[in-house]
Amino acid sequence: LRIAVLASGRGSNLQALIAARDAGLLPVDFVAVGSDKADAGALQLAKDAGIPTFTLNPKAFANRREFDFELFRQLDATGAQVLVLAGFMRIIDGEALAPWVGRMINIHPSLLPKYRGLHTHRRALEAGDAEHGASVHYVTAELDGGPVIAQARIAIQSGDDEAQLAQRLLSHEHLLLPAVLKLMAEQRLGLIAPDHVTFDGKP
Ligand code: GRF
Repeated sequence: LRIAVLASGRGSNLQALIAARDAGLLPVDFVAVGSDKADAGALQLAKDAGIPTFTLNPKAFANRREFDFELFRQLDATGAQVLVLAGFMRIIDGEALAPWVGRMINIHPSLLPKYRGLHTHRRALEAGDAEHGASVHYVTAELDGGPVIAQARIAIQSGDDEAQLAQRLLSHEHLLLPAVLKLMAEQRLGLIAPDHVTFDGKP
């Protein structure tokens, strides 16, 4: 499976994908890593792994739509079959992403549908939740609102602060994302419009 990854930050989820590929556990080819931030750690990780990279500076575009259409133009040119958002911190225009629905996934650090958007760890702590988690979902026009494919669930421990909770969850993200991508590479996942995930052809 040819995949492209978009990331805005440090890229630890990208690193987990590369490690899984290197270990022979994930049958994917990385055709590109793209970012909206020239200094994203993810870009350096990609370069170190010999993966082609590109950066698009949002400031160089008149508006979000123009940025997004150019982003997908570049991604189309890579020949990617699946797009993975791994810490890509931008809202994407619904019309621009429409052709990729069913072929684009995102990892979000909450038990969706709880806590879409930012500061998920803090919000889970403030709500006094007993559990927290991460979700991998198909990307649709609705921010963090696409159909959930799989989740990792952890217990919140008394005394957890935001950073500890985020860190503990991250190690589970690093298992979850490669696991979902492996299922995609094996063609075991599907999406029946608008929001029904199938596994091995079954609902
Ligand atoms: C992760 O927590 C991911 O769930 C969220 O952004 C963070 C990215 O971390 N979408 P990294 O850049 O992969 O280390």
